[in-house]
Order: sequence, then structure tokens, then C-alpha cells
Amino acid sequence: MSSNTVFLNDAFIVEAQASLLVTDLSIQRGYGIFDFFKTINGKPVFLDDHIARFYNSAQKMHLHISQTPEELKDIITELMQKNNLPDSGIKMTLTGGYSADAYTLPAAQNLIITQTALTVPKGLQAEGTTLVTYPYQRQLSEMKTLDYSMAIWLQPLIKENNAGDVLYQYAGFIKETPRANFFMVTTEGEVITAKDNVLSGVIRKNILNLKDTGFQLTEREFSLEELYNASEAFITSTTKNILPVLKVDGKAIGNGKAGKITTQLSALLLEKIR
Ligand SMILES: Cc1ncc(COP(=O)(O)O)c(C=O)c1O
Repeated sequence: MSSNTVFLNDAFIVEAQASLLVTDLSIQRGYGIFDFFKTINGKPVFLDDHIARFYNSAQKMHLHISQTPEELKDIITELMQKNNLPDSGIKMTLTGGYSADAYTLPAAQNLIITQTALTVPKGLQAEGTTLVTYPYQRQLSEMKTLDYSMAIWLQPLIKENNAGDVLYQYAGFIKETPRANFFMVTTEGEVITAKDNVLSGVIRKNILNLKDTGFQLTEREFSLEELYNASEAFITSTTKNILPVLKVDGKAIGNGKAGKITTQLSALLLEKIR
């Protein structure tokens, strides 16, 4: 166990001493939310987006955060000073809290903030990844819940298919991967990502905000069939930034290499992050 400092409810403590009671709804029923952002050279990346999503997930899940967003930011700053990890991942977790009957939502939740060393790619990883599709719609998909049961349960299937990860599709429409949003590029150069029933990824949002750079960026439903005929595809997340998708279900996307538009968007995103 690491000797990093963590924040638990109202105090900074050493990680090895941070614990919750077994009655917590996160343990009993898998109920809770989290958010995760990175720091580069000691600076949090897209912090306001992550804080806003954390409060939004909490509110939609009927959970209460005792601190104001400003207080939370001060806690994060202090945690960063204590740990001195310039390149890191910071995870804010809000568990359901201690429930007397292991089911009813209590008024008070537990807040945990951890920081671990993390380095993220500094350029586009052209070697990309491959995905295998699976029919599934994430529950409560617009909230960043603790529930990754399906993703973890599918790990053997991913291995059997020699894929890098799974891509959820539902009723033939592409959604997202368990930990990243998904984009495809048509042969006409239109960049499309699913509009509804996916997590509002922070990198997804910052890609969609690149509209004024001349890219045709669209949020809409798109089918598995369209994806098989796409010229490029990529996934986006805090840890991966933009990662090209070279194959889906064993079929090459476009020429099976990292595409031109993917590479251009990746450069623009990295500029924004820096
Ligand atoms: C289901 C899901 N979709 C998308 C993402 C990507 O979100 P972000 O860009 O905010 O990291 C994540 C991140 O973990 C996720 O869990």
C-alpha cells in the first residue's frame, strides 16, 4: 500500500489508514459515484469540467457533497501539495454512505479523494487499439457511477477476441466503451459521436468544442453498419486523450491505420491540454 496522503470526509490521512465501514452502500449495493482527472506538471487538466460533472452526478444520484466546489478545489490543492506528484491522477469518490439496513440511502455520504502517479501519452499513440462490440446500454449512463460490473465481467470475452477493449452497442447503435467515448469519421470527413445515453466525457466535450477549427463535428446516433464503413475511428478519455481504433470486430476501419483527421484532432487536443 502506498504512503500517499488521501482525503477522507474531513481530514487528510495516510492511505494505509483510510478505511470505510462494511455497511457502506458502495460495498453492499455498488452505489456511489466518482470522477477522475489528471495533473500535468502540477496543474489539473480541465478541472472545472470534472468538478461540474462530479456535482452533477451526485445531484442526479440523490447524493450530497458537504463541501462547496470552491472548498473541494482548496482540498485538492492541499492534497497536491502534500503528495508532490506533478504528473498524477486524482480520483474523487462519493460512496452511498452507511446504511442501517444495507439498502436505504442515508443522508450522509463518504467522500474519498486519492492521488496516484500517472503519466499520460504526450503524443498520438498511432499503434491504436482494437475493439469487439457487445450489446449493452450502461445504466444511469449520464452519471459517472461506480458500477463497472459489465465491463469487468466481459474481460474474458475481450481476451478471447484478442481485442483491446469492448465497444457497447445497443439495438445496433454505437454507444461507448466502458471507460471512453467513441467517435467515427465518415468517408466525407464528418466526425460523429453518440448523442444520448453515454457519459458526458470531458475529452469528448473538449473535442466537440473544436467546431470553430473547421471540423464537421456531429452528435447523433450512428449504427454498427455505418461504423464498419467508416474511414477512421477513435476513443477519447482522460487517460488516453485520443486513441485510434484500427479494427472493430476483426474488421479494419478504413485502411486499418491511425487516420488523418484523428491525428489532426489529437494535435489540437494536446495543444489545449498544454
Ligand atoms: C463510461 C465512460 N465513458 C466515457 C469516459 C471518458 O470520460 P472522460 O473523457 O471524462 O475521461 C469514461 C471515463 O472513465 C467512462 O467511464
